[in-house]
Amino acid sequence: MKSSILVVDDDLVAAELLAEVLTKEGYRVKIATQGSEAVRLGEETSFDLVITDLKMPDFGGLDVLNAFKRMNPQTITIVITAFGSFETAIEAIQNGAYDYIVKPFKMDEIKQKVAGCLEQKALLSKNNSPLSYTGNFSFKTIIGSSPKMLEIYKTVARVAGSDVPVLIMGESGTGKELIAKAIHDNSPRSKEPYIVINCAAFPENLLESELFGYMKGAFTNALTDKKGLFEEARGGTCFLDEIGDMPLNLQVKLLRVLQKSEIRRIGSNQSIPVDVRFLAATNKDLGTMVKTKQFREDLFYRLHVVTINLPPLREHPEDIHLLVDFFFQKAVNKTRKDIQGISKEAMDILAGYQWPGNIRQLENVIERAIALTNNKVLLPSDIPSELYEAKETQPPQEDADAAGSLRTLEEIKMGYIEQVLKHTNGNQNMAADILGIDRKTLYRILKKTKKDGEEE
Ligand SMILES: Nc1ncnc2c1ncn2[C@@H]1O[C@H](COP(=O)(O)OP(=O)(O)OP(=O)(O)O)[C@@H](O)[C@H]1O
Ligand SMILES: [Mg+2]
Repeated sequence: MKSSILVVDDDLVAAELLAEVLTKEGYRVKIATQGSEAVRLGEETSFDLVITDLKMPDFGGLDVLNAFKRMNPQTITIVITAFGSFETAIEAIQNGAYDYIVKPFKMDEIKQKVAGCLEQKALLSKNNSPLSYTGNFSFKTIIGSSPKMLEIYKTVARVAGSDVPVLIMGESGTGKELIAKAIHDNSPRSKEPYIVINCAAFPENLLESELFGYMKGAFTNALTDKKGLFEEARGGTCFLDEIGDMPLNLQVKLLRVLQKSEIRRIGSNQSIPVDVRFLAATNKDLGTMVKTKQFREDLFYRLHVVTINLPPLREHPEDIHLLVDFFFQKAVNKTRKDIQGISKEAMDILAGYQWPGNIRQLENVIERAIALTNNKVLLPSDIPSELYEAKETQPPQEDADAAGSLRTLEEIKMGYIEQVLKHTNGNQNMAADILGIDRKTLYRILKKTKKDGEEE
């Protein structure tokens, strides 16, 4: 059976062109040039896929999206967004769009995307995961609006409503735990338990009894019956963190849980059904571990149905500013210090660094700077020197001085005033506030330096 597609665009020529290409691909295609018309067509027939332009007069793409979500949750939607407007793409994904295409697009790209979406839709429904979850998605705790992060949001939104296992991979500190929680929070299981198990934190036999629970007398210290974490997670989500550290012996047992959705407590031969959604994360290369027989291939494929690869921070440096602002605010709120912002020089250092420790390291640097600083604005001197030494950038003024001649107090004061003025874009009132001095005093200092400069 050919898949049916509805193309919605107020530009008739664009809509017809797209329809023609998709018809040649073998799909059944209809066109609507208005959002309201699209909804009317949707009431008459059901579509597998709706491709809609976002920007249309009156009834926009988001309205179309929401209307179809209500009418037929099985219909998936791809939105077409303007180049560079990632915010609107994120908004569309949060509203439940399955994917987005950025204008201007190539026909080949759209053909691929359409085929991929329909294929994934089929895969998800085969995995018992109908796309009938029509919630909106929120990524409030996750910062980033780069194309790489947008891809992550897209996958999170796509898999949140289903029960497929998700494997989250990425370097240390890239946000694997955060993403796992976001999947749970955006899932229909969000009100049910969310159980996190760090597989690296326990020796083998302890991990087994933590996961599966035990019966009284099963081993020396088993004084009572005890539920395991898999049972605690019933109805909810179980996040197996550091899955690469799970011993082989337990991997077999986990596989059985995934296949049969039931467990046996240690020392019992009675099976207990457990309706649990599994998420797993690791910073190890599981593919290589499979080759070297450190990780079971069958379990790998079972967990690997959907994979999210979190990019290291150095691959989406555009997000550093947003992240810095976010962590800055968080840390300032915690300390209740009166710190007003970050100087451009300090920000430049943060933005230029390679961040081997990724987002966690960035967060630590900001938190530490705010805890220790006495400045009203974070300066390069508040940032650990490894960050600029590693990059061989110009060291900030303060350190250069430490190596050479020492500056007078007057010079340091003037240097600081200049930096604050730069930060306030020359606004003296704001600068005086930040410096904690009277406005008139600042005028006087500036006037005096200017005069001194002219006299020399
Ligand atoms: N995109 C993001 N937006 C905001 N905070 C983030 C983001 N990514 C990570 N963080 C923060 O960075 C820290 C590290 O994230 P997290 O613990 O999820 O990393 P991880 O990938 O699990 O690391 P590890 O492999 O070391 O366990 C956390 O405090 C988390 O809240
Ligand atoms: Mg982690």
